[in-house]
Amino acid sequence: QKGGYPHFMLKEIHEQPESIRATILPRIRKGVPDFTADNIPGSIFDGVNRIIITACGTAMHAGLVGRIMIEQLLRIPVTVEIASEFRYQNPIMDKNTLVITISQSGETADTLAALRLAKEKHATTLSVVNVKGSSIARESDYVLYTHAGPEIAVASTKAYTAQLACLYMIAFQVALYRGTITVEQGAQYIKELQAVIPAIEETLTYADTMNDICKSLVNTEDLFFIGRGLDYALSCEGSIKLKEISYIHSEAYAAGELKHGTLSLITEGVPVVALVTQENVSAKMISNIREVRARGAMVIMITNGIADADDTIYDYNIKLPKTSDSFAPFTAAIILQMLAYYTSVHRGHNVDQPRNLAKSVTVE
Ligand code: F6R
Repeated sequence: QKGGYPHFMLKEIHEQPESIRATILPRIRKGVPDFTADNIPGSIFDGVNRIIITACGTAMHAGLVGRIMIEQLLRIPVTVEIASEFRYQNPIMDKNTLVITISQSGETADTLAALRLAKEKHATTLSVVNVKGSSIARESDYVLYTHAGPEIAVASTKAYTAQLACLYMIAFQVALYRGTITVEQGAQYIKELQAVIPAIEETLTYADTMNDICKSLVNTEDLFFIGRGLDYALSCEGSIKLKEISYIHSEAYAAGELKHGTLSLITEGVPVVALVTQENVSAKMISNIREVRARGAMVIMITNGIADADDTIYDYNIKLPKTSDSFAPFTAAIILQMLAYYTSVHRGHNVDQPRNLAKSVTVE
């Protein structure tokens, strides 16, 4: 059942090249995105002047990445809302709002309630769901399924990256439809998305390195993830994954916020995972790393082909297989999943079934 892996989580981490392939390939025609087989006509995007992404937990974190991509390509305001907050806030929506709900199980009570509210307010609803025929899939106007296959481990891995793939496809498709990118650009983006598959395969070969690095985190009590832009969105996901299965307290910080508070928590030996995959902010990130380093932080840096940083600022530098910066979330996510996984294993916890948590949260 676990296919020779000691845990479902590790099996699911390793299934990601296949789940991404299954999610994107059926939606590419003549080199550009095509949602015909999903029954999602381009016309649903007519008149949309605002997009709201709503979900819980890891699915919400996928939304944080998706937001950046969609806004970049579409130049339409996108907000990401925690479903359990959104539904009680009398949110502003109308027929020109597209509400994207994201859910692996398709049964999360708060996400389902947010979807129902969106429908009441006449928004168009599009869901990114993994489980066929689930409540959220059934009740949404349109569904773009992630074809990640069954996810058994409580901690979501392959569903998350498949959600990212769907959100990227939505960004490309809508941008093409509305003419904010050209067909050539759309084809180029699709090529880059496909190139993520071999890059993930290569990232999976870092397992032994990650296993070793995680040995140094066994006695950690607090850990910080820092990043900017897409890397901040990724930091949120890295942090929830680590907390969830290793029971180490961690926080994700937008790196520019460090000096507005958190820097006081950085003392000798505190681990800081610094994501530096976005060239446009890499110089700023390096200076943030110097700040934590000066307070004695143990720095695990994750980079995507930036010029070699001075090796006194980190303990480990994990160099991702090169992708263009916009696609680094896929490979970086794999590293963060392995970080959580191996740390949990070394601490002797129940990786697949962490205490107090359930796979599907059908209560509010
Ligand atoms: C974390 C995790 C949860 C879920 C959340 C939403 O690893 O799995 O945070 O992402 O409970 O679940 P779905 O996606 O089923 O709506």
